[in-house]
Amino acid sequence: MAADPLPPFPPGFLWGASTSAHQIEGAADLRERSVWDVFEARPGSIADGSTAAVACDSFHRHREDVELLAGLGLDAYRFSVSWPRVDSPGGLDHYDRLVDDLLAAGVRPVPTLFHWDLPAALDWRERDTAARFAAYVERVAARLGDRVRTWITVNEPAEHTFLGHALGVHAPGHRMLFEALPVAHHQLLAHGLAVRALRAAGAADVGIAVSHAPTWPVSERKEDLAAADFYDVLMNRAFSDPLLLGRYPEGVAELMPDGAEADLEIVSERLDWYGVNYYAPSLVGAPTGGPSAYGTLDVPPEMPFSVHEIEGRPRTDFGWPVVPEGLTEVLTGLRDRYADRLPPLMVTENGCSYPGLDDQDRIAYLDAHLRALHRALEAGVDVRGYFVWSLLDNFEWAEGYRQRFGLVHVDFDSPERTRTPKASYAWLRDQLRDCLRAQR
Ligand code: BGC
Repeated sequence: MAADPLPPFPPGFLWGASTSAHQIEGAADLRERSVWDVFEARPGSIADGSTAAVACDSFHRHREDVELLAGLGLDAYRFSVSWPRVDSPGGLDHYDRLVDDLLAAGVRPVPTLFHWDLPAALDWRERDTAARFAAYVERVAARLGDRVRTWITVNEPAEHTFLGHALGVHAPGHRMLFEALPVAHHQLLAHGLAVRALRAAGAADVGIAVSHAPTWPVSERKEDLAAADFYDVLMNRAFSDPLLLGRYPEGVAELMPDGAEADLEIVSERLDWYGVNYYAPSLVGAPTGGPSAYGTLDVPPEMPFSVHEIEGRPRTDFGWPVVPEGLTEVLTGLRDRYADRLPPLMVTENGCSYPGLDDQDRIAYLDAHLRALHRALEAGVDVRGYFVWSLLDNFEWAEGYRQRFGLVHVDFDSPERTRTPKASYAWLRDQLRDCLRAQR
């Protein structure tokens, strides 16, 4: 465990933990089907052959989750609302209860409205899905808006586009490579329409959660620099530029559907804050002629780039390198690129997968990343909050239950889905009590 106390964070800095509906709720029999249910039924789609039908059973056990959050002393809980559940009779009742229980425990509810579990009948390749999303958001806001103050529209449109529609390793499992780009645009349009719907319903604190990975060229060779630049455009700027500048960067603008240009005013609707999900940087070079891999993800040889291992770093169970300074780089980089167009930032996800209850590796990871965040604050970046991914071990998408990101261990073999706080849970609780809030 790191010996030095962490530096204090500014008064009012929001401390939270994140989860998502499909990854924790279970109770699949009490909702409509999502694209993930369909995908999980395909043999070989999930590494351990599991499904999210029960997961952490948080639908039935959400009170235990609320107690765990309160026990940590967190200010906020980022969970997601399942669109397929809202589409089923009484589906919003669950979120109604969750919001009430969070508020009673003194924890601010921060719902994400789309975290990848699209109703099975819908398809992000269709532009109309954006309008359907806005109509669903109106229903959720009408029910919860009297108590929910902070909203997140969409989670990581890049991963949902590329993993789900370009490479086919996530639901819905399409392998369209560059033809997947309209899926990104339709999610961004959905986001903009949702911001408008939420504001019309009186919401005053609206953001989005976008993944950001600093992209490092593998060498200074011209080809490697160009490949890394394109990768950065595709993974980062193709999302942050339209959201914050109202335009697509060169290289992806051409890949967007007809008429995308005219939607950019909606896409770039003013945000109250911009959420950053950070895990690790990417080391990128020109194609090598063969496949390359990032953790468990294979990058096809026909891509105009290759990804490389970042050497000399500890690795998480997923094989991702631990690079805390990448978080400082992301936050200062956004400030430098977007300047006065950038709203306050919030780290909406950051965390790591490690096995075991005595998770000293996770403590070291969180300690180092909180220091890295603090360095961005010292450099003058306006960051207002930090959410750990994740409160609980959960259904880690195509990895099933093999990757454990939780501060709390979940026994997936027990019918009760027994929750046991890990060493990192006690560590974070003590840090919040003893140093992180010292200036309050
Ligand atoms: C997603 C989470 C996921 C986490 C770890 C993010 O890409 O938003 O749902 O569990 O990373 O892979």
